[in-house]
Amino acid sequence: MIVTTSDKPSQRALSTARRLAGELSAPYVPRGKQTLRQMAERMAVIRLIVVTEKEVRYYDGQTESPLYFHPSMAFVRVKRLRRGESDPLLDLTGCKPGDIVIDCTAGLAADSLVFSYAAGETGAVTAIESEPVLCAVVREGLAGYQSGLTDVDAAMRRIRMINVNHAEYLAGLPDNSVDIVYFDPMFRQPIHESSALEPLRKLANGSALTVEAVREAIRVARKTVVMKEHRESGEFERLGFERRHVNTSKIAYGVIEVAGSSK
Ligand SMILES: C[S@@+](CC[C@H](N)C(=O)[O-])C[C@H]1O[C@@H](n2cnc3c(N)ncnc32)[C@H](O)[C@@H]1O
Repeated sequence: MIVTTSDKPSQRALSTARRLAGELSAPYVPRGKQTLRQMAERMAVIRLIVVTEKEVRYYDGQTESPLYFHPSMAFVRVKRLRRGESDPLLDLTGCKPGDIVIDCTAGLAADSLVFSYAAGETGAVTAIESEPVLCAVVREGLAGYQSGLTDVDAAMRRIRMINVNHAEYLAGLPDNSVDIVYFDPMFRQPIHESSALEPLRKLANGSALTVEAVREAIRVARKTVVMKEHRESGEFERLGFERRHVNTSKIAYGVIEVAGSSK
């Protein structure tokens, strides 16, 4: 993999590209006048990170469209919240202003953004992503994306995105130190028509959620531990979640209420 910029890059794009090259242990290659195809062929690489003035793009092969951060469905959900409407994930987790939320499977950070908007300025959302490239692309997007709505942009900027395995991160947290822990692992049985996740499928960590990670989540959470999965999934039973369906969609949420338990 190499890191480069669009042609005629600004100083900001150049320094972002050099920083990402260091972070991802990939060479930084000045773009010059070459097309991306020429660069990829000359360097014999298929994977490229391209820093443009607007975003960071990840290309895997010539035929694939690049992966880049876009709030997509989260933007629609946040606009509903702005109109005073509800969101099933917030209802099930019980997320309120001031809450501390750990999103253990950040992906494109759509759910993190909904949490961040709801938890507000007094709350905090930490988004955990185990895959370094995905983490870098989405983190840079959260830092720079302009949605045209200042409160939505502020919610993006407040998300702290960390590249680590969630099992390791949760194990380092004290008991009862956060309000909500959320898991949205790659489904055991993917829903292919859910195309929002298509670009990240090749990059994502597809491992199953572990019993140990759920146990750690219950230890650190004060309110709820919630998991999203296919509605027919056996993961709810295997991991001890109570399955709650949301309307007619193919997804369901598993909920573990930790408040009021023996803790
Ligand atoms: C289905 S996606 C999450 C989508 C996300 N909820 C959103 O709104 O965009 C699952 C993500 O979790 C990441 N992941 C899977 N296992 C992980 C682990 N053990 N630690 C951290 N991240 C993990 C995957 O790499 C992938 O990016």
